[in-house]
Amino acid sequence: MADLTTDFIGIKSPNPFWLASAPPTDKEYNVRRAFDAGWGGVVWKTLGEAGPPVVNVNGPRYGAIYGADRRLLGLNNIELITDRPLEVNLEEMKRVKRDYPDRALIASLMVPMNEEAWREILHRVVDTGCDGVELNFGCPHGMSERGMGSAMGQVPEYVGQVAHWCKKHSDLPVIVKLTPNITDIRKPAQAAMEGGADAVSLINTINSITSVDLDLFAPEPTIDGQGAHGGYCGPAVKPIALNMVAEIARDPATRNLPISGIGGVTTWRDAAEFMSLGAGNVQVCTAAMTYGFKIVEEMISGLSQWMDEKGYENTRDFVGRAVPNTVNWQDLNLNYVAKAVISQDDCIKCGRCYAACEDTSHQAISMSEDRTFEVIDAECVACNLCVNVCPVEGCITMEAMAPGTTDPRTGKVVEAEYANWTTHPNNPGACAAE
Ligand SMILES: Cc1cc2nc3c(=O)[nH]c(=O)nc-3n(C[C@H](O)[C@H](O)[C@H](O)COP(=O)(O)O)c2cc1C
Ligand code: SF4
Ligand code: SF4
Repeated sequence: MADLTTDFIGIKSPNPFWLASAPPTDKEYNVRRAFDAGWGGVVWKTLGEAGPPVVNVNGPRYGAIYGADRRLLGLNNIELITDRPLEVNLEEMKRVKRDYPDRALIASLMVPMNEEAWREILHRVVDTGCDGVELNFGCPHGMSERGMGSAMGQVPEYVGQVAHWCKKHSDLPVIVKLTPNITDIRKPAQAAMEGGADAVSLINTINSITSVDLDLFAPEPTIDGQGAHGGYCGPAVKPIALNMVAEIARDPATRNLPISGIGGVTTWRDAAEFMSLGAGNVQVCTAAMTYGFKIVEEMISGLSQWMDEKGYENTRDFVGRAVPNTVNWQDLNLNYVAKAVISQDDCIKCGRCYAACEDTSHQAISMSEDRTFEVIDAECVACNLCVNVCPVEGCITMEAMAPGTTDPRTGKVVEAEYANWTTHPNNPGACAAE
């Protein structure tokens, strides 16, 4: 049986599945049940300064994007950090950590850009016995308008400065949670590392308006006839998060910086993908909000079964394994040639592949009078669009051509040697270098 225990920057947990800082981790009642369900750790809902707590709207705070089957694909929220008193949260965290010593409990923090404010909050949270802190530089709405959250996370100098203050004023491991609302995610990650942070976590939510009410002419969710942009999360953001995780994992400056992967993790497979791109563990929010805490059971059993099948004894065996294979476009092998192949046994003759290829790709699929669809190898550029639009999984596959055979489209023999754009004769840069 695979060993799912993880040691993330010295913080041990029985599995790599942590709940991200959000409503699921807002209070003791939730977190106890989450731990009972099997979650390996939680990042408590973000704490702010002592004093009157923040105030949330009293109307709807979520918007959503659905798939055709009304499955929730993307969630948008305009919620702020915890609106419960700091003292209450701290007391609850202390009790929970005392009763669940084997689980990871991280305090998420957001206070103004001021050393004394960070020193003060750190001293308060240390007493809870928490295992580390996560600095919320990501929240893109409400708090950012007050100069916190993503307003700080978008300035790498601030990120580095606060990480430095936190290491100076506490011995706790420091995780910097990054905002995706930035052009180059590597810059704040580098700043966090230079400031002394032990790890980064990403992504927080993406600036978004999910829909507009066309009677009120206002963005949704609508509060008394008006709407504000919110933070987008859920399965729809996973591709953006995976890319950002990979960018940090393969950047020479941050390649050894531990990463906690966040963004659309819904299944064990999502988690394995984040981890293969360099994340030491994952955090989950929307999936728990959509399906409840017990979803972690499937994540644990699925990951464990996959690891057993692959012969991975612990998560270290596959963390980062996809990083060396994540390259820039110019490094891709241009001698690799594939063709689409349609399985006539699986085809339901819907014609989607034909329409897609005929109208928007390379006119490489023929349709006979009895609606038999076949790939014309002499036209197929192997773009994969037909695979993506086909409603039957596995019906169309991309098959690599064997070296030594001739590609009927180009008339060229497929070569076994790897050759990329940097040496291609059509590349002016390559010619100039000759
Ligand atoms: C309603 C809601 C509230 C959130 N509040 C916080 C927060 O207080 N602090 C924080 O760091 N992230 C917060 N997040 C962001 C999540 O922690 C997480 O980064 C994001 O939702 C992406 O993960 P997911 O796709 O699994 O939901 C919140 C997300 C949602 C949906
Ligand atoms: S891979 Fe692209 S070009 Fe080839 S048949 Fe499919 S859609 Fe057409
Ligand atoms: S999209 Fe798939 S199922 Fe539909 S005709 Fe093409 S191969 Fe057949």
